[in-house]
Parts: sequence; structure tokens; C-alpha cells
Amino acid sequence: MFDIKIEKLGSEGDGIGRHDGKPVFVANTLPGETVRAEGELPRPELIEVLNPSDHRRVPACPYAATCGNCTFQHGADSLILDWKRREVAYAFANAGLEVPVEPTFATPQSARRRVTFTAKRAADANADHAVQFGYKQRSSDQLVDIASCTILLPELEAEIPQLRDLCKTLLRGNEEIQLAINACDNGLDLEFHLPQPPNEAMTSGFVHAMAKLPYLRGSIDGDVVIEKEKPLIRFGRADVAIPPGGFLQAVAEAELEMARLVCKHLNGRKRVVDLFCGSGTFALRLAERSRVHGVELEAAALAALQSASSVDGLKSITSETRDLHELPLTPAELKPFDGLCLDPPRAGAEQQCAAIAKSNIRAVAYVSCNPVSLARDSKLLIDGGYTLEQVTPIDQFVHSPHIEVVALFSKKPSKAARSIFR
Ligand SMILES: C[S@@+](CC[C@H](N)C(=O)[O-])C[C@H]1O[C@@H](n2cnc3c(N)ncnc32)[C@H](O)[C@@H]1O
Repeated sequence: MFDIKIEKLGSEGDGIGRHDGKPVFVANTLPGETVRAEGELPRPELIEVLNPSDHRRVPACPYAATCGNCTFQHGADSLILDWKRREVAYAFANAGLEVPVEPTFATPQSARRRVTFTAKRAADANADHAVQFGYKQRSSDQLVDIASCTILLPELEAEIPQLRDLCKTLLRGNEEIQLAINACDNGLDLEFHLPQPPNEAMTSGFVHAMAKLPYLRGSIDGDVVIEKEKPLIRFGRADVAIPPGGFLQAVAEAELEMARLVCKHLNGRKRVVDLFCGSGTFALRLAERSRVHGVELEAAALAALQSASSVDGLKSITSETRDLHELPLTPAELKPFDGLCLDPPRAGAEQQCAAIAKSNIRAVAYVSCNPVSLARDSKLLIDGGYTLEQVTPIDQFVHSPHIEVVALFSKKPSKAARSIFR
């Protein structure tokens, strides 16, 4: 057992201090605290906080000490929001870019509409529930069985007992299954992931149980097993029937702010290309003012976008199924556009940004869930003549170290580009 003074928070949200001159990482601690810890270095377990920080607060969640889903239930919002802003600035500084970063945009505490649970049969016959249902412990395979989750939308949290029961129909032996949920505007869309396909009895038990529950659709590994109503989500003026397991920004308030920043920056552009466009979170809003071309890997997401695009008043939306990592749009292909939005997965879009850097597109809005790949790609754009106008962290994932960011770039048009868009 030893005492450590916590100096700062690391990139995964652990408090960092020193023991025998070497860095140690202690979960659930805050800068300025002296804590007692024991266990294997460099990640010993917290035993006691000897002098709590003024920013320490009592977690709203009863599972905070064990559940791996949240990291910062013990920290004041102001501290975590500022830490996220500084983490973004740090990622840019590491890429050689000193940029001012806006204050982090805060979202409500109980607003998650997209979540993935894990379920398995309880090994212990005396367990509270026959089915364990919840999230994994941090850095562990152990499942934390939950009866509540404070970060979810209340209407989603209220379904935990029914969802736990429903999982029973698809559990076999000691297999573990995942349940990904999108809380859409008209109800819940459930997608299950099983380690092997269900047998007939499991499928019929599942359909039977679903028939009695108020959920819109149940899919298993991409196949729709029961659909009572198309799950719909509104992007701007359009209602989109997203495909099973389709991507949805995790928090509506975060999505609205990101879309506001993107649309404001691309306002006045005539032809916009939306890369990694999914089912049209940004494309359908951008089409209120500009012609839009959406590019995306998932054909089902583009089909959903296209069928929603016939709403009155929207400008034309075209789309293209394409692997943008394998085959990024070339500078020649980018020529028809004067505005661009991109929202890639965590790895970012290095090759694509190298091509954008060579283009004359005037306004680029980059939405990212990884400040490190964003900073790397931003450097490419800046080296290609872009000016970074604004960087805004969005706290889409409250109590977690994940950070969403919107970065806005502009480039002065060349004479040739000016004549195309006049
Ligand atoms: C972070 S999501 C953003 C989706 C959309 N912009 C939204 O906000 O709803 C990333 C998207 O990139 C797509 N994607 C992943 N890998 C891709 C690739 N190699 N080429 C093109 N699209 C890809 C995913 O299918 C997903 O729709």
C-alpha cells in the first residue's frame, strides 16, 4: 500500500501520479488529490482518497465504482469539460499546431439514445437475475449487472428489465450476446449480435416475445427478424428510416450542435460533398441550402438517405457507395464542389485529407470522434493552404473520456475556382 499525489488526468481519464519516480495511473481520482493505492503497477487500485478535490462529487450511478462504461462519475462537470478542451488542444499541439480551442459544448446528463449492452446467463443460481445484463468492467471480461443507467434517456433506461428478459430468448449455454439499441423518434430499434446464428426455437421464442413488447424492430446480425414499424429519425426536415444497426449520433443535443456548426460554416456553398455521410445526418440538413453529394461505404445507409431525400424544399441529393479509405475522392473528383463535410470513423481520413488539401474547396467541416487523428489530418489540410477557423469539442459522451470535435477550415478560392461557382 502506498500514497500518491495525483498530478493530472491522463488520456483515458485516470489520475496520473508518481511512485518511485515512475508514472502510475489510478482510476477514479482527480488532480490535486492524495490517494492511497495498492496492487500491480503501473495501474494500482484506489483504496482511499486522503484529501478529496473540491471537484469531487458523489456519483449519481450506484455502479460507478465497478462499471467500465463511465470514467468520470466522480468528477464535477466543469472539470471534465475543461479537461476535454485541453485534451483537444494537446492533440493539436502534438501534431505541431497551436490552435485556440472553444469551450466544450455540454450535453444533458441523461440523453444517450444509442447504447450497446452485453447479456449472458448468470453462472450463480443465487444471482439477483437469471440473466446478467449491463456493461463490462473496465479492462475486464466481467459483466456488471445493472438495473439502472443514469446516462441513458429515461425512456430507454425504463426498458432495462424488459430488455433483460427479452435477451433470455437468444441466450444459449454460457454464450454472451450484445444488444445495440437506437432510440428512434417513434420507438426502440434493437439489433442483437450473437456468436453463432440462432436456431429455430430461439428465433420463434424471440419473435413471440417481441410481439408482446412495444419495440419497433428486432434484427439479428443485420437480418430483420421482426419489424412492426420502420424506426424513424428526423434529420432537419426529413424522416429517415435508418437500417438495422445503422449509425446514429449517440445524443440528439450533440448532433444538433454539430449540425448547426457544419451548416453555418457551409452556408452559401452551392455544391457540397458529404464524405462518410451515413444515412444523412448532415447531408439532409445541408440540402436545405445546397446541392449535396453523399459518399459512404454502407449501401443500406445510402438507400435510407435517398428515400428520405424527396422532401419538399430540399435541393438535389446524389450518392455513391464507396470505400473512402481504399479509394478516396481525388482532387479532380473534388473539383465540382465548393463545400465539404467529412465525419470519418476513429482512424480519421488521412489519404482523403491529403487529396482535399490539394483541392480548391472553400469551406471544409470536419466532424471527428478522435482528436488525435483529427489533429494529424488537420495538419495535412493546413499544409495544403487551409486556415483552421474554429475547433469545438462536443461532450457527446458524458462521463467518458471520448471527445467529439468539430473543426472548420477555409481556403481562399483560386481565380479558376471563383469562375466555376460564380
Ligand atoms: C462516424 S460515422 C458518421 C456517419 C454520419 N456522418 C452521421 O453523422 O450519421 C462514420 C461513417 O463512416 C462510414 N464508413 C466507415 N468506413 C468507411 C469507409 N472506409 N469508406 C466510407 N465510409 C465509411 C460508416 O459506415 C459510418 O456511416
